Amino acid sequence: MSTSMHTVLRRCVGIVRLSVVVLFTHAVAVASTPTPAERIGELREQIAYHDNLYFRQAAPEISDQAYDRLKRELRELERLHPELAGPAGTGIGDDRSGRFPTRAHLVPMLSLEKSYTAAELQAFFARVARSTDNADITWVLEPKYDGIAISLTYENGRLTHAVTRGNGREGDEVTANARAIRGLPVELAGDDVPELVELRGEVYLTHDAFAHLNVTRTKAGLEPFAHPRNLAAGSLKLTDPAEVTQRPLSVVIHGWGAWEPAATQPVRQADFNAQVAGWGLPAVEEYLVVEDFATVWAEVEACGERRWDWPFPTDGVVLKVNEVAVQDTLGVNADAPNWAMAFKFSAEQAITRVRAITLQVGRTGQITPVAELEPVNIGGTTIARASLHNLNRLRQLDVRIGDTVRVEKAGEIIPQIVAVLTERRDDHLPIFPLPQVCPACLTPLEVGAQGGIMSCTNPDCPAQVRRRLEHFVSASGVDIKGIGPALIAKLVDADLVQVPADLYRLSREHLAALVGENKAEKLHAEIARSRSAPSWRALAGLGIPRVGPATAERLARQFGELDALTRIRSEDLITTEGKSRVAGVGDATARAIAESLTQPAQRRQLQGLHAVGFGPTSDSARQGPLQGRRVVLTGALPTLSRAEATALIVAAGGEVATRVNRETDYVVAGEKPGSKLAAARQLGIQILDEAGLRALLAGHGGD
Ligand code: IVH
Repeated sequence: MSTSMHTVLRRCVGIVRLSVVVLFTHAVAVASTPTPAERIGELREQIAYHDNLYFRQAAPEISDQAYDRLKRELRELERLHPELAGPAGTGIGDDRSGRFPTRAHLVPMLSLEKSYTAAELQAFFARVARSTDNADITWVLEPKYDGIAISLTYENGRLTHAVTRGNGREGDEVTANARAIRGLPVELAGDDVPELVELRGEVYLTHDAFAHLNVTRTKAGLEPFAHPRNLAAGSLKLTDPAEVTQRPLSVVIHGWGAWEPAATQPVRQADFNAQVAGWGLPAVEEYLVVEDFATVWAEVEACGERRWDWPFPTDGVVLKVNEVAVQDTLGVNADAPNWAMAFKFSAEQAITRVRAITLQVGRTGQITPVAELEPVNIGGTTIARASLHNLNRLRQLDVRIGDTVRVEKAGEIIPQIVAVLTERRDDHLPIFPLPQVCPACLTPLEVGAQGGIMSCTNPDCPAQVRRRLEHFVSASGVDIKGIGPALIAKLVDADLVQVPADLYRLSREHLAALVGENKAEKLHAEIARSRSAPSWRALAGLGIPRVGPATAERLARQFGELDALTRIRSEDLITTEGKSRVAGVGDATARAIAESLTQPAQRRQLQGLHAVGFGPTSDSARQGPLQGRRVVLTGALPTLSRAEATALIVAAGGEVATRVNRETDYVVAGEKPGSKLAAARQLGIQILDEAGLRALLAGHGGD
């Protein structure tokens, strides 16, 4: 964009801030008290929306507590107005994704009824006592694992099917994925294994596994996962079981469906826990057998306090009748058993006021509304902002500037606004208008297919320009210490920097005018130092979707320095079938890179960096026994996997290519080599086995 055009736009931005209400139309509908039928309709719609995010996309926008509240309000209204109630069994969601064959459960997989207060739990306890004529029953209290439900069928001790809950009657068959879970035996031990059993359990990630995985991801420049439960759910629904092996999933068995022959069923729930442990399965270990409600409640409270000491995520406890015969007498209702009740731990909440609603423009132009709050303390952390996710959510909550809101911090999920206290709202608070144009550059916003996501499509949008530069200088990019968002804003506003290459054209004087003489000197040296960073840093700094440092390094190793990267073609990255040609990079990632890296704007950014001399100095270049050598792998090697062999070759300074041609130095052939071996013979290229490769890596000849 020309400088003058840019200046005009910036002036306009000043105007739009003053005239927001005039420019922004499309007001949120005014909330009036709905009739029960309307409210039931609204609730069903909202629940369906959140069910889709939770079950199908594994990316919920609201906390479990907020979701449970919607369900309870619906259930309560349906109880008061039975003529408006939905069909039985419709209250438990549906996790089927359409990507797996469907399989029916022999015995339906139900949900659990939930309680939130001592009084509710006690009412359940008393109800059971009444309907069993105060028989001498005992109770089992165990953690409620926060994961995704699974049904595992073992026939004569062999795992034959793993099925998700689905709609309770049938679910996704994910057997291959379940087999990829470490710690889940495919064969049961012991001589008391039934002919057929549907074991019910939960797939989850321990806090440790989740934290470790995120450390690895962050190092690789990937976004950390937000919530272990969503990750477990997403992992079980991966279509490549090999990918599932990479996810550190755990499983626990907490119940059963079908059991044949029925006469061999356990007599007590507690016996069941011991029995499955004996079969070599991960069983519930942290359970207690209790008799009276006073003890139940004392233990529930103790569990609430201990919940973070458990290695697995929990969102509550489950109270079950211990005697299986009594369970059978009590039976089940449409959605849940009558012999069990969950007690959900409450999320920490606070009440505060919305100071402002800002619209953030992301690196790719996506608009996120954010509520700026009066700072408030929740569970030891100060909360000053809450994401409103997208415009659907904003519309749904009808949050207005000046509103009093209840905010909640639940588990690993970012703070949420769970309710607007409309009774505390001033009558004249205006509805927050939905934006029509980008708040930073006035470009009309584009609405995504779902309606809730709005994006600014102007690549020169100053907000996007700033976000991109912030990413470029960050530790995931070229890592320039001393440049943060504030300085970037100044540099962009002063029209000094638009693209990364501009940073390398800044003089000391330019910087001194913005940060003072002393700092300018240091900063100038820092920027100069970053110019000789390895080329993967520049690549990672461009913020190409899915390209963090690790992938950027793989690309740079395969394709060389910046000028080579600027000439990359789609066919260098992917085959015509869409398969990756980049060693160590998956197909989907390679396709995304091909799409982005071959765009003129991205090319220009790389060319710009090359033009200002970005690149490692000769002494910083890598040296190794395979320096400058091209190796092609074919067939299965006896001990090294393809990925391991590649990593070793790259670490020794070599390159792994996928095609044999005159530039190939070595072909390493294993068992069942493909046509590459014949090609190598034809071209007279040296052929090695794994031992030969190892000798090369150790620096022993080859030529
Ligand atoms: S017993 C008929 N025990 O919570 C359902 N469920 O919200 C009996 N869950 O679908 C389930 N930990 O997947 C039971 N210790 C536990 C549990 C547990 C987690 C899950 C289960 C259920 C869901 C209901």
